Amino acid sequence: MITGARREGTRWPRPQFLTARSDGPVAFSDSGWRWWLIEGHAGLPARTIDHYFRTGDSSGITLLREKAAKSRRFYRIAPTTLPDSPHYFAKQMTLPPRKRLGALLGRSNPLVGYSHGTAELSHNLALNEQTAHGVRTFAFGEYFRGGLPVQQVLLQEYLVDWQPFNAVWKLHEDNATLRRTLLLQFFDMLVSLRDAGISHLDLHPGNVMVSPDLQAPLRAIDCGQMSMEADPAISAALHLGVFLHELNGKCTSPSSQLEDGACRLLYGLVGAEAGFATAERLLPLLVRHSTKKPFSRRCLLRHGPDKLKLDAIEKRLLKLSQHRPSAPAAHVSGTARRQEQRLIASIDEMMTTTR
Ligand SMILES: Nc1ncnc2c1ncn2[C@@H]1O[C@H](COP(=O)(O)OP(=O)(O)OP(=O)(O)O)[C@@H](O)[C@H]1O
Ligand SMILES: [Mg+2]
Repeated sequence: MITGARREGTRWPRPQFLTARSDGPVAFSDSGWRWWLIEGHAGLPARTIDHYFRTGDSSGITLLREKAAKSRRFYRIAPTTLPDSPHYFAKQMTLPPRKRLGALLGRSNPLVGYSHGTAELSHNLALNEQTAHGVRTFAFGEYFRGGLPVQQVLLQEYLVDWQPFNAVWKLHEDNATLRRTLLLQFFDMLVSLRDAGISHLDLHPGNVMVSPDLQAPLRAIDCGQMSMEADPAISAALHLGVFLHELNGKCTSPSSQLEDGACRLLYGLVGAEAGFATAERLLPLLVRHSTKKPFSRRCLLRHGPDKLKLDAIEKRLLKLSQHRPSAPAAHVSGTARRQEQRLIASIDEMMTTTR
């Protein structure tokens, strides 16, 4: 127990993964926040942000970004009492009423919602334990009202100088070697996810972080939505489809070469799986269309591959595409086509690279 921290009781049973793997809940002050400490040194950054929540004193705290619509805030924490301490990353989220019970009990379903901080914490811990592609989470904070959590904070390692995949990809349009390395790293990450049986339901290039040392494994962030029970072939198709659709500028009429390249990647990942034949037909649809809400990616994973009705899925995706506010122009610009050709060339090169 950390000095100055007060142990708190819990009125309701909390998820087993939380009570078994962390020390808590503890209170550092009368801020109203309760903390679960997952790693020994987490008390210092947790106390720093707790002090900020209580007093508004932002020493050691930098607000990186605020997403009003999604009620999320991101901070960098540099504890002032230990200037040599590493920095920490904190993601704070406000829970809509519908998700509060699920967050309390650690349940995810259509009634109580899927993506709350409790689910994100559990997914982050699993990803970090089972693969080299997770981010360490040190502490978890909660603010209760009426017996339910209304705000939650994940306190993680700070990925210093890492950048999202799409940013690095854009910066190095002319560097074929670097792009090939990035795609190889991405492929390695998909292999790890396949082997761990983890489906990340929002693996777009902005949720994949790249180290300044390009040889370091990529990290998958934003793990609010995951499935651990998906068919491996459909899961791999979903990972590739979401990622390549966005990396190709969300183009709704991609070249057939890109779809072929995507299917070759899929074969390299899950060619031997029983669900491959269905996944191979599904993947071009996912490369072509946005699968953002109101489409449910989870629906693709719910039943086995033999139950997927690809014709109905295609119709739905097409209909949604036409009504999306950001529906891309039917005509694909010359620049977009050139960028797509480069992406295809990078996939070809990557596939023929021997390591
Ligand atoms: N551990 C970390 N260290 C440093 N920066 C991070 C870390 N985790 C996330 N980030 C940065 O914060 C951004 C937002 O994080 P995240 O994707 O988890 O939240 P989000 O609400 O989904 O935001 P968005 O909708 O922009 O993806 C990331 O794009 C990344 O730049
Ligand atoms: Mg994100």
